[in-house]
Amino acid sequence: MISNPVIDAMMNRRSIRKYREEQPSDDVIETIVRTGQQAPFAMQMGSVLLSREIEHNVFRAPLLFTVCVDVYRMEKVMAKRGWKRNASDLYTLMFGIQDAAYMAENMVIAAESLGLGSCYIGAAPFMTKKIRELYELPDRILPLVMLTMGYPAEDPPVRPRYPIDSHLFEGKYTRFSDDTVSEAIEEMDSGYLRQDYYRRANYMIPLPEGMKEKFNLDSYSWTEHVSRKLGLWGGDPEDLLRNLELCGFNICP
Ligand SMILES: Cc1cc2nc3c(=O)[nH]c(=O)nc-3n(C[C@H](O)[C@H](O)[C@H](O)COP(=O)(O)O)c2cc1C
Repeated sequence: MISNPVIDAMMNRRSIRKYREEQPSDDVIETIVRTGQQAPFAMQMGSVLLSREIEHNVFRAPLLFTVCVDVYRMEKVMAKRGWKRNASDLYTLMFGIQDAAYMAENMVIAAESLGLGSCYIGAAPFMTKKIRELYELPDRILPLVMLTMGYPAEDPPVRPRYPIDSHLFEGKYTRFSDDTVSEAIEEMDSGYLRQDYYRRANYMIPLPEGMKEKFNLDSYSWTEHVSRKLGLWGGDPEDLLRNLELCGFNICP
């Protein structure tokens, strides 16, 4: 694989969940947000909210960004030109989510290059009421993801990924066989076990009553963890739909 400073920064990045208290300067913050803005966009529908209140921030991070899909600003701009939205909320969000996500990832890479660490926090779309109140958000802004940031106070190893063959398909998609699924699982699970990831975190997602636990901290790894997330959680679409509605979006009119 080719190496250069940008690629090295991307390949060596890992989520940081412990931070020094030192506040990054305004200059650093402006640089990170400007590089975020400079990400490719469909309609420039990303915005970031910032909290520097360490004591309230996730992981006591000096910076907590909440990256939002900002349709409010877009519609203000359109209104100025005398346009009203025809696009459905599903259509609009499909692009807005991408704008916000690419913005967030540019911020992560910029932060990395400046010696800061970061970690995404996925809870934002489930806590829209609190975020709307805290930042006095108007309708048509959807909190998409939070991003903790600051100077690292830990040095965790780089986390494994599936082998590239299971991510790159030239010409046509190659169906997974039993063997290739096993290889992908093995790469992830042995990697996380080598790092003692879940033992250090001392955490396994508990099974509901009636399901027998077959794992312990010697054997529980990433595949079981992610399978439990999608196998147990998030079954009720009403929850997210309600949160979207609270922000003024209706994707099933
Ligand atoms: C959308 C999204 C949501 C995430 N939510 C959380 C979270 O709530 N808590 C957390 O500790 N990490 C969270 N992460 C970080 C992932 O756990 C992390 O990126 C993944 O385990 C890979 O590890 P790495 O970033 O160190 O390579 C999230 C990442 C993404 C992209």
